[in-house]
Amino acid sequence: MSRFLLSPALVPVRSAALARAGAVAVATLLTGATAQGAAQAPDATPSAARALYVADCASCHGADGQGNPRIDAPGLAGLSAAYLARQIDGFRRGYRGRHPEDVEGMEMRPMIEGVADEDLATLGAWLASLPLPQPSGDAATGAEATGSDPARGETLYTACAVCHGRSGEGNDALGAPRLAGQAGWYTARQLRKFIAGVRGSDPDDTSGASMRASVADLDPRDVPDLVAWVEMLRQRDPGE
Ligand code: HEC
Ligand code: HEC
Repeated sequence: MSRFLLSPALVPVRSAALARAGAVAVATLLTGATAQGAAQAPDATPSAARALYVADCASCHGADGQGNPRIDAPGLAGLSAAYLARQIDGFRRGYRGRHPEDVEGMEMRPMIEGVADEDLATLGAWLASLPLPQPSGDAATGAEATGSDPARGETLYTACAVCHGRSGEGNDALGAPRLAGQAGWYTARQLRKFIAGVRGSDPDDTSGASMRASVADLDPRDVPDLVAWVEMLRQRDPGE
């Protein structure tokens, strides 16, 4: 297994396209000029879905759905349509983002209040079709990775692979989202929320409850090791 740890492919690559997208996202955030994101995004298509996304979501989730750690917004690109639809439904119905300690969830929840149901469905399907975000300096764990032990994380991850897949590719039949490609800071935060019951304890959140039960025995101190391993999964092909 150590071959994954030694692979030169694990060195994070910061592509020019991503740097450009990040700059657009920041400019969008600072100026509120959302149209700018559509005009300058690398492969902008004038589709209705992208227009909706730029208007309602890009200011936080980034021009290409890559996420923005400065405002706690995760990457959405490449998550499955089924998972995205369920999370959107969760925020809509309030079983996600309602817990009084779920600060980031409460930031997200009002953002879809004014969006029509059919537009949310369009958005979910479109986001699922986008390429996965490339790792960036910002999105990588940074602080999380310091002093963490990915080899120990790999061992801990065997319990997670049952649902999330050996390569973190996710499994829609079990409701388990893709983890490979998500930013480490977000993965760590969600794990801590599930462990503490800040996410997954609402009676209407059946999928969240299944995830929560799976981490019931996990110590919060295991999170950095697990996340260090999960961050490496983005470099692996599904099924490897
Ligand atoms: C004001 C900033 C903001 C805006 C605008 C926003 N979001 Fe979010 N979103 C967040 C934050 C913060 C989170 C993380 C919540 C958490 O930590 O639980 C989030 C989480 C999500 C998630 C959960 C992802 C996952 O992996 O579980 C989805 C799906 C989502 N947002 C979709 C959208 C869509 C679609 C739009 C546009 C209609 C949108 N968001 C607009 C801030 C925002
Ligand atoms: C029994 C199946 C199962 C097991 C085992 C499991 N999970 Fe999950 N996990 C889920 C489901 C289902 C969800 C989606 C919950 C929801 O819909 O809100 C989830 C969600 C998550 C999320 C949130 C992702 C996001 O985009 O917000 C993270 C992070 C996560 N799991 C990590 C792990 C880790 C790490 C382990 C092992 C310690 C693990 N899971 C074990 C089923 C599982």
